[in-house]
Amino acid sequence: MAFRNVLVADRGAVRTLTVNRPDKLNALNRETLGELTLAFAQAAQDDAVRAVVLAGAGDKAFVAGADISEMNGLTPAQAQAFSRAGQRLMTSIERLGKPVVARIQGFALGGGMELAMACHLRIASEKARFGQPEVNLGLIPGFGGTQRLARLAGRAAALELCLLGTPIDAARAAVLGVVTRVVAPEALDETVAQVADQLAASAPLAMAGILNAVLQGGEAGIDVGLEFETQGFALAFATDDMREGTGAFLEKRKATFHGR
Ligand code: COA
Repeated sequence: MAFRNVLVADRGAVRTLTVNRPDKLNALNRETLGELTLAFAQAAQDDAVRAVVLAGAGDKAFVAGADISEMNGLTPAQAQAFSRAGQRLMTSIERLGKPVVARIQGFALGGGMELAMACHLRIASEKARFGQPEVNLGLIPGFGGTQRLARLAGRAAALELCLLGTPIDAARAAVLGVVTRVVAPEALDETVAQVADQLAASAPLAMAGILNAVLQGGEAGIDVGLEFETQGFALAFATDDMREGTGAFLEKRKATFHGR
């Protein structure tokens, strides 16, 4: 199915979803939120997709936030629905069950930073800028930023970024733990492709177990989290991929995983 604001492209087992409103710096309006939600649901259901890359079209922005022109006219009830729709999308990405890599070349502000934080890995150009500038609009983050930023980078960083609203560069974002890797702009595509290919060739069920244990288990107390880990560990022993991975090591060859 073709979308108006989201491009879908497959390369092997890697699906790239690109927010495509470059003239509005890929701002997230309601239509785009809906299309992204559907596009991620399709990626989740398609067994041929082993890793997802999320990108923004053009040179300037990953995503420069929720669409301010659309927000300007919202009633509180509509704003509540908009926030919930954004949060639903972010949670569906985080819980996709397969790895999602954000490719960040420029502005990742507001809803754009929230979108990047919902992904599992964030690879940024040195030119990328991150921020939660909602306070400058008399707003607060509404797509999970107050929660995910505090979990990723700690409360001090979350309070600093959200209260001051001042964007930070990629190097600072890396120091704060917001970004997985920072590369030169010209190396961004190659690095993202390498990482995505590595994920796509890896063991899907093991990765699903890791995502579940780290993300879901991490929200619970240590005992519950460790139980998530044990269940995921035991489940891996029921898969062909585990026999293949350990067998390949012992036979000194490269493993081929089939997600079974
Ligand atoms: N919502 C709606 N439109 C947006 C947008 C957003 N979040 N961010 C950028 N745009 C639009 C601009 O209105 C402009 O549209 P126009 O050409 O029709 O006037 C276009 O994208 C280009 O943006 P512009 O501001 O001209 O680019 P710039 O290089 O001068 O500035 C930014 C770039 C990112 C600093 C600036 O666009 C900005 O501050 N955006 C808002 C960031 C924000 O507050 N995000 C959080 C929202 S909750």
